[in-house]
Amino acid sequence: METPFIYGRIAKSDDYTNRKEELARLKNNFTGLINTIIISPRRWGKTSLVNRVSEILRKEQKKKMFICNVDVFNCRTEEQFYTVFANAILRASSSGWNEFVSGVKKYLGHFVPNITLSDKTQVYEFSFGVDFKDKNLSVDEILNLPQTIAKATGRKIIVCIDEFQNIHNYDNSLAFQQTLRAHWQLHDSVCYCLFGSKRHLLMNIFNNSDMPFYKFGDILFLQKIKRSEWVSFISKRFASTGKYISEDLSGEIADAMQNHPYYVQQYAQQIWLRTKKKCDETILQEALSDLVDQLSLLFANIVNSLTTRQINFLFAITDGEKNFSSKDVLEKYDFGASANIKNIKNALLEKDLIDILPDNEIVLQDPVFGIWLQQNWRV
Ligand SMILES: Nc1ncnc2c1ncn2[C@@H]1O[C@H](COP(=O)(O)OP(=O)(O)OP(=O)(O)O)[C@@H](O)[C@H]1O
Ligand SMILES: [Mg+2]
Repeated sequence: METPFIYGRIAKSDDYTNRKEELARLKNNFTGLINTIIISPRRWGKTSLVNRVSEILRKEQKKKMFICNVDVFNCRTEEQFYTVFANAILRASSSGWNEFVSGVKKYLGHFVPNITLSDKTQVYEFSFGVDFKDKNLSVDEILNLPQTIAKATGRKIIVCIDEFQNIHNYDNSLAFQQTLRAHWQLHDSVCYCLFGSKRHLLMNIFNNSDMPFYKFGDILFLQKIKRSEWVSFISKRFASTGKYISEDLSGEIADAMQNHPYYVQQYAQQIWLRTKKKCDETILQEALSDLVDQLSLLFANIVNSLTTRQINFLFAITDGEKNFSSKDVLEKYDFGASANIKNIKNALLEKDLIDILPDNEIVLQDPVFGIWLQQNWRV
């Protein structure tokens, strides 16, 4: 029997729950060509949301728009960015191999496309050597590609760029951002949806008035999925496979994982696998201790890479502390002077272990890490 819960993959159609408001907002933005920035901690569902909206719009607006997904996670340099960008745009706007090749010729005449069939299934992959002697011309052509294709085909183009914060690490990132912005702001038939998980980096790119992308578009802080949604989702998924879980227990799953989308699905799956017919509290407890065990080596490695004060800071979060600079908290967790708090926080943000929410609340990114810390560490 196929498991009714998925994690580590994009949540599509049946696996997708709720997010009605975000779906509507994004859909509106895409059709109205309003640039959008989506920010949330890792594994809260950014890619799934963008994908879902794309699925819906592709069906509804078949002949009116191209939606193009670019993932720059593995791009370490500007050149790699351009290559991945051009590939993705050309692929999204052509329905097959022939169109793809003629697209390269038509829109990127200055490049000699190095076209290879990467395997027998005819998944075509094209790469081209960017000639940096000709850099200005090439960059213009590539960055204007969506607008050029939009004009040539009469369709709107939605360009979704995943893991956008990575551009922050490029050599001379500021100049690169200026180049992108200078081109993209002139595109009146294209909508850019830029998203990623490093909130502090993305906020610096999009919310800092000294930066080129300041006020580039609508910023959407994606939230977790609500408890009530999880309760009905989990109960339904059990029922659809002939198993039963009460609403109370479904709620406990969401609570234990603090509504974290990836973890709720993972934990629910482990519980589902252990349930023959009817789920009970013992199964929840066993599955939780299994989950924590499975991840404990990973957590131990993380902790080994931290200073005592950083560990204590995480511990203070799991204890529910809010005012880290207060005298009591500074003493209890041995933080030293209150001036240290900023450095500790920055180091943990940098390591992707904590997140500062828009209301300034500091949370651990990984709720299971929190459970593990509470079980294994004492200050
Ligand atoms: N709307 C949803 N309904 C059900 N499950 C979801 C939903 N959105 C996300 N998930 C769960 O969360 C997991 C992570 O989602 P996704 O990969 O979209 O997150 P992300 O924010 O893009 O993560 P990352 O920052 O690591 O790229 C999915 O595999 C799925 O288990
Ligand atoms: Mg993602």
